[in-house]
Amino acid sequence: MTLEEKAGKSLEELGTTDAQEVARLFGEAEQFLGSQENEVLSLENDQEFGLKAKALRDFWLSRKNGLIAQMDKTWLKGAPKQLRPIVGFHFNSLRGRAEQLEERLDKRRKRILKTVRGLEDERPRQTPTDLTLPGYRRPLGSFHPVTRVQREIEDIFLGLGFSIETGPEIESVYYNFDALNIPETHPSRDDWDTLYIDDQTVLRTHTSPAQMRAMEKRGAPLYIIAPGKCYRHDKPDSTHSPMFHQIEGLAIDTDITFGDLKGTLDFFAKKFFGEKVRTRFNPSFFPFTEPSGEVSASCPFCDGRGCRRCKESGWIELLGCGMVHPDVLRYGGIDPDRYSGWAFGLGIDRFAMVKYDITDIQLFFQSDVRFLEQF
Ligand code: PHE
Repeated sequence: MTLEEKAGKSLEELGTTDAQEVARLFGEAEQFLGSQENEVLSLENDQEFGLKAKALRDFWLSRKNGLIAQMDKTWLKGAPKQLRPIVGFHFNSLRGRAEQLEERLDKRRKRILKTVRGLEDERPRQTPTDLTLPGYRRPLGSFHPVTRVQREIEDIFLGLGFSIETGPEIESVYYNFDALNIPETHPSRDDWDTLYIDDQTVLRTHTSPAQMRAMEKRGAPLYIIAPGKCYRHDKPDSTHSPMFHQIEGLAIDTDITFGDLKGTLDFFAKKFFGEKVRTRFNPSFFPFTEPSGEVSASCPFCDGRGCRRCKESGWIELLGCGMVHPDVLRYGGIDPDRYSGWAFGLGIDRFAMVKYDITDIQLFFQSDVRFLEQF
């Protein structure tokens, strides 16, 4: 039974027949009052406070239907003679608290009024604007380190005559896997821990689907790079992030050879890390390139002697690459007997980490200005 319902009944009906139970009943009422009051006083919004404060006041103190008025009738006036003094004692105390409540709510109400009025008083009087004063200086932002490195890489390839393509981050299974020669049962699908949207749609796990889209759109010859965000089901740590950035490179023409791939990537590494850098190609495997390779650069910091940044190996792994698989060309509508091509994919975040000597990839995505201001 709610307190409101109880206030409508006599003590007898409530089974309140001795002093102890009277005390308990009023105790319950005081507690209820206290919790309602706290709730209203803790409201931060002044307007809401105003409305709720009035409702609470009326609930308890309204002359006709307020709880106090009702209790006066049912509990006090209707009390059996021997209980009357003790009921009166508790009733007076409860009524006192309820009336104080009104005062306390009032205090805050006045404070609100005062601040509103104060604000009005402090409004500056209109003075003519001095047009000779300098304007407000707004702080300039700067490019995010990942964006900077992306642009730097783009510039190198733009200089070589490549153009920039983009593709969707929400990608079909067909473009992300099937057309890249990664059939459903192929174990390499497990290499990319994939975030599925539905069974035909994924968050792209690499920028390689942009290869296929570019082939379909432009045909051969084709010289493109495709930067963008990629997603994998990776637990974030200092070298992994579920969202990261790649740049895809693709060159297709008549007579493209592995030599072109080596020459281009060696040129690129020297442009990016400095002329002294040497490149190394190790055999690797990707279903969409054959043969496939992994490219490392001699550590630009120690010139290959071994240091903290290259983990004493003298080499820094840069990217995966290879000659575009004939089946992939065919998927893209390009005749592999006439054309050949190379492709590579690199992690922009990794490049930025090496370039700026950053050991935790998470720093890129935490938006801490103390970190970002350094670039
Ligand atoms: N897509 C590969 C990856 O994400 C990289 C790659 C791209 C390899 C193009 C070869 C050719 O690891």
